[in-house]
Amino acid sequence: MSARTHLATVALGALTAAAGATAIEARRRVASRGIGALRPDTDLVRQVVARMTTPLLPDDYLHLLNPLWTAREVRGRVVRVVPETEDAATLVIRPGWGWSFDYQPGQYVGIGVSVEGRWLWRSYSITSAPRPDQRHFAVTVKAMPEGRLSGHLVRGLAPGTVVRLAVPQGGFVLPDPPPPRLLFWTGGSGVTPVMAMLRTLVRRGTMPDVVHVHAAPERSESLFADELRALADQHANYRLVEASRDRPVRVGDLERACPDWRLREAWVCGPERMLDDAEDHWRRAGLGDRLHLERFSASRTAEAEGGRITFAASDRVVEADGATSLLEAGEGAGVAMPFGCRMGICHTCVVPLASGAVQDLRNGDIYRDRQGIQTCVTAAAGDCTIDI
Ligand SMILES: Cc1cc2nc3c(=O)[nH]c(=O)nc-3n(C[C@H](O)[C@H](O)[C@H](O)COP(=O)(O)OP(=O)(O)OC[C@H]3O[C@@H](n4cnc5c(N)ncnc54)[C@H](O)[C@@H]3O)c2cc1C
Ligand code: FES
Repeated sequence: MSARTHLATVALGALTAAAGATAIEARRRVASRGIGALRPDTDLVRQVVARMTTPLLPDDYLHLLNPLWTAREVRGRVVRVVPETEDAATLVIRPGWGWSFDYQPGQYVGIGVSVEGRWLWRSYSITSAPRPDQRHFAVTVKAMPEGRLSGHLVRGLAPGTVVRLAVPQGGFVLPDPPPPRLLFWTGGSGVTPVMAMLRTLVRRGTMPDVVHVHAAPERSESLFADELRALADQHANYRLVEASRDRPVRVGDLERACPDWRLREAWVCGPERMLDDAEDHWRRAGLGDRLHLERFSASRTAEAEGGRITFAASDRVVEADGATSLLEAGEGAGVAMPFGCRMGICHTCVVPLASGAVQDLRNGDIYRDRQGIQTCVTAAAGDCTIDI
């Protein structure tokens, strides 16, 4: 028997045993918490597999069978890269073990890609409608000038590449059932979360009354333009208003583009200026609660001093400049940092600051020891230690 076959047999044995142990644990949960506790619990499976394969790591076995199987994290394989415009492409990803297709339309996923030996993580809105029967999901990436990862995703990623995935999250979602009247206002790559919402509505076969104002500098740069126009042809309830550099729709033009905007629940995603204007406009109209916004980036106005960052529990120390967030510094040093949006909204990245000071890159606020800090938007203000 070859070493590979032997290890594969051991892995299968471990998995079978794990399945048995999981069933016992599932029965215990149902007894104590009711039938709702039967939802697949990948953490539990991971724990059981880890127990069964000790002292070797379960990954040592699982990897051998399939590089998408890992007990530590969710992985995916890029199966297709589909060019959309000159500087944007859709990545179709087949996720591995631990992924769940019950994400909500509008949510985003964290994607980690190894570039020159370093894992870079970014968030991307899922553009495909959630479909458990499909085994794939899609994100659409626009290459940012001088961006460290987006250009590589659009132009440099070969089909077959294995990527790391963080579970889908985010509150910019389409409710089910949707409200009877909606306004989507999107600019540039901000159309991506709305695309998942529209595809979901089409799949469900129930198109409510939708006005969609979509802006792109030029027609050739407009993401999903053909699909959106086809949608407008096929669904009387879906009205598409296309804006461009020559025919802009600014917040002041809304009365003309969508006269009943006040009666509609609105989802807005696009460039920062557009989002700030929309926020202001809806708030002034006393309709702030009818507006949903998604920001793709946090504006950084401050730069910290930088310093030596100690990641106490991980036993890592790294020197970082004042423009590098603690999150990026930790990831660069191989620390398993928690994160979600990576832009100061979701608070998933909060870890305790044990000593020293850090500075908020959005507003320059300084935080000192013994409090929770958002590592995605703070940088070292001198030497500091964080508890991870
Ligand atoms: C919730 C959420 C959903 C998102 N969904 C999408 C999506 O669906 N599609 C999509 O395309 N993007 C999406 N994004 C944005 C995405 O996460 C990345 O921020 C984006 O792709 C840029 O990544 P990057 O690594 O190329 O840029 P980074 O390297 O992170 O740089 C960010 C910005 O700084 C600029 N910059 C970097 N280095 C320099 C430099 N030396 N000098 C001057 N400027 C510089 C870049 O041009 C870029 O504008 C989303 C973000 C969030 C938070
Ligand atoms: S990752 Fe969302 S606030 Fe930091």
